[in-house]
Amino acid sequence: MDRLRELGERIAARDARIGVLGLGYVGLPLALEFAKRGFRVTGFDLNRAKTEALQKGESYIEDVPSAEVADAVRKGIFSATGDFGELSRCDVINVCVPTPLTRSKDPDVSHMASAMEEIRKRLRSGQLVVLGSTTYPGTTHELFVPLLESTGLRVGQDFALAFAPERIDPANRQFKVREVPKVVGGETARCCELARQLFETIFDRVVPVSSTQGAEMVKLLENTFRAINIGLVNEVAMMCDRLGLDVWEVIEAAATKPYGYMKFLPGPGLGGHCIPVDPTYLSWKMKSLNFPARFIDLATEINGQMPEHVAERVGNLLNEDRIAVNGSRILILGAAYKANVSDVRESPALDVMKLLRAKGAEISYHDPHVGELELDGTMFKSEDLTDELVASQDLVVIVTDHAAVDTARVIAHAQRVFDTRNATHGIRDGREKIRRL
Ligand SMILES: NC(=O)c1ccc[n+]([C@@H]2O[C@H](COP(=O)([O-])OP(=O)(O)OC[C@H]3O[C@@H](n4cnc5c(N)ncnc54)[C@H](O)[C@@H]3O)[C@@H](O)[C@H]2O)c1
Repeated sequence: MDRLRELGERIAARDARIGVLGLGYVGLPLALEFAKRGFRVTGFDLNRAKTEALQKGESYIEDVPSAEVADAVRKGIFSATGDFGELSRCDVINVCVPTPLTRSKDPDVSHMASAMEEIRKRLRSGQLVVLGSTTYPGTTHELFVPLLESTGLRVGQDFALAFAPERIDPANRQFKVREVPKVVGGETARCCELARQLFETIFDRVVPVSSTQGAEMVKLLENTFRAINIGLVNEVAMMCDRLGLDVWEVIEAAATKPYGYMKFLPGPGLGGHCIPVDPTYLSWKMKSLNFPARFIDLATEINGQMPEHVAERVGNLLNEDRIAVNGSRILILGAAYKANVSDVRESPALDVMKLLRAKGAEISYHDPHVGELELDGTMFKSEDLTDELVASQDLVVIVTDHAAVDTARVIAHAQRVFDTRNATHGIRDGREKIRRL
């Protein structure tokens, strides 16, 4: 019997059982999307707190309402578990585990490797495995085909293997999941066809490419494009500072050109699990082929300098009023890596806080989405953003521009404000207290 053909028929009938390994920012929304389209879905995660919360109908991702989880659990179309034995019952397995960097800034493939090892132990004919974690070109083919074929099963004949990068943008309300086209590449044409068929059940448009390596590269091109363009505007921001120009005005005016220009904004540095990390996966791979990825290296260097640039501008600002950074009281507004999320992974706010602390500043922070955080072994709690707190600070640094913060009110009470995000744009009163990146 042709088990892969049978799988195709079961996907078409919504009868295939879907597994999602890794229930984070990517995996949880994907799992629920399949459940909404009529599949039965099992989510797997090593983190027991997460699987237990989901089983109780509680979400820990801002973009996923708890009611949606509770509804899917109650209807029996979604369950979360740490028991990998359940993988053998899944016909399709999506892998959405983290792909961070090691301490020496090399790709850390250990999460993908352990997830794939759990799959290998239970691989059976008629299964489709889809890797969605962002990684360097060649990962699926070089690492996971040999691993999965060590079972004696053959890719494209007995089981299918594909790479389908994730494009989710946390807190972006403009696009629904299904509206963002899904790219897929298979190990064989048959693998690609099955993955295309699978994702057509939840995405309006699926874009097949000819290989898993091609699909891996698509994701890295997208995120490298962002990292490099952000690097460019960050350097332009530093140029404008030297030239005494307003970089925000320059960018807004340039962005009125209806073609040939795309708006990117400067800021305190890159953050999150993707843009600061993914290009390094590509440059690492290229290094192994003796090809220096020069644009990536330069952008990484410039973006990495931004927290220091912010700390230097803070020092200059206080200096204007004869205040030393050492002993000054500085409130950091926003600790997450971007607006309206709670994710502090790689957040430049942490670097800015560390740098100013190292210079002797008394640092506190407020973030409506981040209750507490750890900095060099010290725990910090988000302070209540009272008018008294704001007034008592020598300086407020806006690092992340959350919508829930009343910026005009902060300016009304602050002595001085350094704005790294142009969050104070449009505020008329108190402009003399504000300096912008
Ligand atoms: N966060 C984003 O905006 C985004 C966007 C596009 C792509 N990506 C990519 O998607 C992947 C996942 O990112 P994320 O932000 O969802 O990460 P995350 O840390 O939010 O979630 C990953 C989950 O995987 C679990 N996990 C780790 N190892 C596991 C294992 N062996 N078995 C089962 N579960 C395991 C973790 O406990 C965690 O809950 C990464 O490769 C990332 O680069 C992320």
